Amino acid sequence: MKIIFATKNPGKMTEIRSILGDEYEVLSMTEAGFDPEIVEDGTSFKENALIKVHAIGVQEDAVVLADDSGLCIDAFGKGPGVYSARYLGEDTDYVYKNNFILDRMKGLSGEERSAHYTCVIAALFPDGTEECCEARMEGQISEKPEGEGGFGYDPIIFLPAYGKTVAQISLSEKNKISHRGLALMKMKEIIRKWTERQ
Ligand code: IMP
Repeated sequence: MKIIFATKNPGKMTEIRSILGDEYEVLSMTEAGFDPEIVEDGTSFKENALIKVHAIGVQEDAVVLADDSGLCIDAFGKGPGVYSARYLGEDTDYVYKNNFILDRMKGLSGEERSAHYTCVIAALFPDGTEECCEARMEGQISEKPEGEGGFGYDPIIFLPAYGKTVAQISLSEKNKISHRGLALMKMKEIIRKWTERQ
């Protein structure tokens, strides 16, 4: 069974292959020969993940997967959420975005700084069935940006259990506890069960 992942992001493909690649041939949509125009105009992570799998459509010989993720800050009413990539402008760099968030959080402490990353993964199977699963990584908005690893909002997401930001832990540590890593592990099990039923 092949897996086609509806992303062009090479970083995501590395992460996905490290979790699913031992059992399945995992192709990006580009490698599988797809280049659809995908308009992520859903209002939830699930809606957006489903939009992405349906942009590729049912494949006879492959499970189509897609993810959608974002940062949800309690003090911002769980925003920016599905708008995380577009927050303050798609092309705005994350040094600016992260400092802007830290400024808005001034005066808040402890639980008031709670935030989490969410990831939803959608699957479209050869028989047309859809499955979705979700996972979170809980943390707090740090007092200042720290660390060089990861990407995006990672330098300002403090993990109390580690005493470090997500940008300060290794990629292999992040994959074990991240929203995307945990959701992929759940999806691996869903795919295994679907395959067994055939
Ligand atoms: P998408 O799932 O590729 O649409 O990404 C959504 C956006 O959420 C990213 O562009 C980042 O802004 C944010 N995001 C999702 N996961 C992470 C993460 O692991 N680290 C940092 N930012 C993330």
